[in-house]
Amino acid sequence: MTSERRFRIGVLGSGKGSNFAAIADACRAGVVPAEVVLVLSDVAEAGILEGATARGIPARFLSPGKFRTKLDEEAERAYIAALRGAGVDLVVLAGFMRVLKEGFLGAFAGRIINIHPSLLPAFPGLDAWKQALAHGVKVTGCTVHFVDAGVDSGPIIGQQTVPVLDADTPETLHQRIQTAEHALYPQCVAALARGQITVQGRRVLWRNP
Ligand code: GRF
Repeated sequence: MTSERRFRIGVLGSGKGSNFAAIADACRAGVVPAEVVLVLSDVAEAGILEGATARGIPARFLSPGKFRTKLDEEAERAYIAALRGAGVDLVVLAGFMRVLKEGFLGAFAGRIINIHPSLLPAFPGLDAWKQALAHGVKVTGCTVHFVDAGVDSGPIIGQQTVPVLDADTPETLHQRIQTAEHALYPQCVAALARGQITVQGRRVLWRNP
């Protein structure tokens, strides 16, 4: 009997893990032809670790080391080793609050993706929904993109628009964007797992199934 090897996903997150949950549940439901095989967090008490454990997915806190906004060299090595040990095909950042440097990017070249809560290239960086409100845009959204050495600057895989309403507070807008994220991220992961995605320079093209 032959069984086809499933596409293996490693997830990195620092927060509550709602995007991880959306992806893991879509995998379980067979909507995404992949499996989340490892979840790593730089925050020991992060909800994403609890969510993974509750789903029976291996989950570990891995110390980020001595810096505040990136992994130090030893931590970077530990993250790479854990993901390689789990045989991941794709590294999915889901609210991971550290910038990844050359060592990590090189270890998983072209195989790291992130979700950002705005329509990039508008509003990169922190609290993008607050930036959108402050700017007064009428439409914002979320973006799934490949990760490169910049901040939220890699080639765009997919985007979903979200309206900004007059009555919005930062909380209501963020919630609406997150609902869109939970649909968009699994779709993009599924396309990658199916090999539908090709990259031509900055353009990411989707082949039909
Ligand atoms: C998401 O809103 C994502 O856009 C940003 O971090 C947040 C993570 O949320 N990169 P969660 O931990 O997946 O709920």
